[in-house]
Amino acid sequence: MKTIDELLHEGVEGKRVFVRADLNVPLDGTTITDDGRIRAVVPTVKALADAGARVVVASHLGRPKGAPDPAFSLAPAAARLGELLGADVAFATDTVGDSAAETVAGLGNGQVAVLENLRFNAGETSKDDAERGAFADRLAALADLYVGDGFGAVHRKHASVYDLPARLPHAAGHLIATEVGVLKKLTDDVRRPYVVALGGAKVSDKLGVIDHLLEKADRILIGGGMAYTFLKAQGHEVGISLLQEDQIPAVQEYLARAKERGVEFVLPVDVLVSPEFPDLKTKAPANPTTVAADAIPADEEGLDIGPETRKLYASKLADAATVFWNGPMGVFEHPDYAEGTKAVAQALVDSPAFTVVGGGDSAAAVRILGFDENAFGHISTGGGASLEYLEGKTLPGLAALED
Ligand code: 3PG
Repeated sequence: MKTIDELLHEGVEGKRVFVRADLNVPLDGTTITDDGRIRAVVPTVKALADAGARVVVASHLGRPKGAPDPAFSLAPAAARLGELLGADVAFATDTVGDSAAETVAGLGNGQVAVLENLRFNAGETSKDDAERGAFADRLAALADLYVGDGFGAVHRKHASVYDLPARLPHAAGHLIATEVGVLKKLTDDVRRPYVVALGGAKVSDKLGVIDHLLEKADRILIGGGMAYTFLKAQGHEVGISLLQEDQIPAVQEYLARAKERGVEFVLPVDVLVSPEFPDLKTKAPANPTTVAADAIPADEEGLDIGPETRKLYASKLADAATVFWNGPMGVFEHPDYAEGTKAVAQALVDSPAFTVVGGGDSAAAVRILGFDENAFGHISTGGGASLEYLEGKTLPGLAALED
């Protein structure tokens, strides 16, 4: 894979460089609640601008339906990128239309523009190769070179991720190089004990990675909404907790395989329950009750791991040499249900192990809960992307940069 350093060495002055970033940040209206993904692409954009390139940054945001939708505009992200760069950043109000053409044509050497959301165009995510290709052709007309740096989107076979690099000389940006380097340490030559903490809502999102980790990890800790499907698979009642009944056979098979292979599977021993899901807007006190994991009342739902589980998980993380954590342990957005996620984050901070926080909600949780990012080995910008990498899948956006 050619790197941006090689590209810079060859010279980019005056060249229009298309940077496929992942600026898919959480927004509250037009307020960015976690700018981690924007900060992560700054080194690449700055290096190109400092070398005199005309930098054209493009990204998706959210999942608009192939047409413009103001709720998913990249304008706030463009403004934040400008603040972080300490420079004016031009913004095109479309992706491949007149505004994009004029904005890119107006760039001087060392200047930066952001295009409007790629997914405002049906061609970006189309399953039809010709439709995606036609959109990639229009994107290619805006640039001379391509730099792939949207790690969070490399698992998507989308026009700007997969088809565009085939049309332009291309290289991987600093972020992709860093992310791949870290994930290699979790797959190729892992230091043991290797402990994995998995949370989040759905078991179905994590089945592939669990399947793969049963061959790699020494210990797997389960939390978050998906824990209740595991508890049910062990024969416990889970009240009105989140449950994916159809996944129970798969979970039972994994528990059996883990036993055979000597992989330790650790499930919550107690949980915080309530008859109601908390109000995440008002954050009104939820007054949860702590119950044993095998005694969840029929009319209540589990919303976080309990105090005994927090201690147990901290102890199970303490002797690790490598840790991968993906997915919050509870509804951390509400203060009454944030302690489980905080306890796991704190255990990683306290650990001398090589610790990786795998993207999406867990990365946002770490920052929103006020942890110092530098206390972790690496905080990935890719949720689905890092999971699919660990599953051993070929990621279209990385494969496209290889050729
Ligand atoms: C993410 O948030 O994981 C990436 O930005 C990819 O977004 P997507 O799941 O909407 O493709």
